[in-house]
Amino acid sequence: MALPMARPQQQPQAAPIAVARPRLPAAETILPYLQRLDEARWYSNFGPLLTELEQRLSARFARPTQAITVANATQALSLALRAMDLAPGGYVALPAWTFVATAHAVIQAGLRPWFLDVDAATWMLDPARVEALAPNLNGEIVAAIPVCAFGAMPDLDAWIAFRERTGVPVLVDAAACFDTLSDARLPSVVSLHATKVLGLGEGGYLATEDAALAAGVRKLSTFGFEGSRESLIPATNAKLSEYAAAVGLAALDGWPGDRLRWMRTAQHLRIALIGLPEVTFQPGWGSDWVTSVCTVGLPRGAADQVAERLRRHGVDTRQWWGGGCHASRAFAGCRREALPVTEALAGSTLGLPFSIDMEDHEIARVAAALRDAL
Ligand SMILES: Cc1ncc(COP(=O)(O)O)c(C=O)c1O
Repeated sequence: MALPMARPQQQPQAAPIAVARPRLPAAETILPYLQRLDEARWYSNFGPLLTELEQRLSARFARPTQAITVANATQALSLALRAMDLAPGGYVALPAWTFVATAHAVIQAGLRPWFLDVDAATWMLDPARVEALAPNLNGEIVAAIPVCAFGAMPDLDAWIAFRERTGVPVLVDAAACFDTLSDARLPSVVSLHATKVLGLGEGGYLATEDAALAAGVRKLSTFGFEGSRESLIPATNAKLSEYAAAVGLAALDGWPGDRLRWMRTAQHLRIALIGLPEVTFQPGWGSDWVTSVCTVGLPRGAADQVAERLRRHGVDTRQWWGGGCHASRAFAGCRREALPVTEALAGSTLGLPFSIDMEDHEIARVAAALRDAL
């Protein structure tokens, strides 16, 4: 008599590990602010909650600084460029190794992106590279935007010296630098998107020591109004509501504890990857500064293969900046120099799963999958 076929043993499938799991303030921590909002019946247009949020953001800087909130960082970048009164159609030097928002902001401001390559060690634009375009600095290049790589700060003193030497205005795209940015000698834009280390859904701010620039961005974000109902310049509406400010204030209340939690998770991940020298972290990541993503360096050209291998282990990954900003079709016509470092980074960096409350067993799975992949 034929024996019944043994059924293959079903392995329970572990749930996939998401590349990001944002966590904004819990409802009960926002409630006291919502109750203030109910009492004040002031829902937008620079009410008391937004004013308090901006004051608390400004107070994070060592020197007197204004934080001007805007609907998101893309708008903040664009309005800051517009407030700088640059020659229309001029080139803005920016790194190709950035998120598409940087280039969109340039175009929205009526300017043209000029994509430059980044430094292989810092993943950021070096002022010397912009200065090497010297003949074009005389009017053709009207501004430069260094972009902070995933939360790391560029050498601010070098950029300030660049601005002094060349007269070219500098705007820092510090979208992921809520934690890292505490010096606004150069105007800098931070994102408060839900995926950032301190999020309120959608939002961003310009931090600046330049009162005229702050006033200019404010005016552009609110129909060109400045102290009256007359619109003084063509502008837009890019304000944050009191509801967004309520979330932001609750997030700031929780920030000291949350910062420690981000750091602890980062340290666990670093420890789990000891013994995998092929995986490198950004200098200071999770020890000197925190950010919401974990973008690691891998052997040259290995990113796609590692991503596919991790996917088979149920470990989600993301190339946060794709093949580089310049590679998007939207920017096909934009000026660029040769971009070998950016292209190498696109093939040798990968965003691993990372979240504020990532559990030890998830970290262990990511480490095991990487060990298998490499
Ligand atoms: C480098 C960079 N610039 C700008 C932005 C845009 O930020 P937002 O989503 O607040 O517009 C992002 C968003 O992730 C970014 O990574």
